[in-house]
Amino acid sequence: MANYTALLISLENNILTITINRPDKLNALNKTVIEELGTAIDEIYNNPEIKSAIITGSGPKAFVAGADISEFVALDGKGGKALAQKGQDTVFSKIENSPKPIVAAVNGFALGGGCELAMACHFRLCSENAKFGQPEVNLGLIPGYGGTQRLPQLIGKGKAMELMMTGNMIDAHEAKQLGLVNYITTADTLLDKTKELLQLINTKAPVAIKHVIALANMAARGASDGLQNEVDAFGELFDTQDAKEGASAFLEKRKPNFKGA
Ligand code: COA
Repeated sequence: MANYTALLISLENNILTITINRPDKLNALNKTVIEELGTAIDEIYNNPEIKSAIITGSGPKAFVAGADISEFVALDGKGGKALAQKGQDTVFSKIENSPKPIVAAVNGFALGGGCELAMACHFRLCSENAKFGQPEVNLGLIPGYGGTQRLPQLIGKGKAMELMMTGNMIDAHEAKQLGLVNYITTADTLLDKTKELLQLINTKAPVAIKHVIALANMAARGASDGLQNEVDAFGELFDTQDAKEGASAFLEKRKPNFKGA
């Protein structure tokens, strides 16, 4: 594992937990956090011991309260574009396209880049005190880490437009009603519930999981060849040992032992 200064990292039961650790700044995404998240996500891709991952925030108050606004002051147009491009390329799109599940455990404010970070994850759970919003218009800005695309995909265009135009926050219950989060838990049980889901997913065939992620991402993007890609992936899976193991285990009335090949 690499060394991290702004993240806490732990690997347990093949689940990597990444905790953004700037609680005094509500875990705002500064340059260091973005760089270290990029490194941690590379680790998810490359370390065979990691089967899935959780992203969460440190402290009782915030998941991530946005990009670090103090770093905006020195930016011009070129710098702003580079910030968004680098963040999308090295963190947000990489999370979305990860072949291994990455889930957000939203433990408080998820605003701006924080809401975008949660949305880049494959799905989301939150604690009762969570609040979501895209307040960039208050700063004369727009979301730059994928929010304009992923928020309409997840909650529909009308509500997404309202949230991005007003900058208003929604609470955990509204987020669940809109489909932005799958579960609401108490603050104390958020990580346990998230780990429970990932432990279940970790027992499934990794190549099948990889295809589910890629194909659902295609659907969300409105890709025209999603159905054909599904047919191709379905066929490919029949050439894996895991698909043979899955069918044999079912017929032999035992649990499958998937190897990821
Ligand atoms: N960037 C940089 N610093 C931030 C931050 C951000 N996005 N969000 C919070 N902080 C800092 C505050 O400046 C404060 O630092 P200080 O103690 O050195 O003054 C600390 O985190 C605590 O925040 P504070 O505002 O005092 O907490 P609060 O409970 O009164 O308010 C929020 C919480 C989330 C409503 C408020 O912090 C906020 O509006 N943050 C900005 C949200 C935002 O616009 N995000 C999108 C950025 S594009």
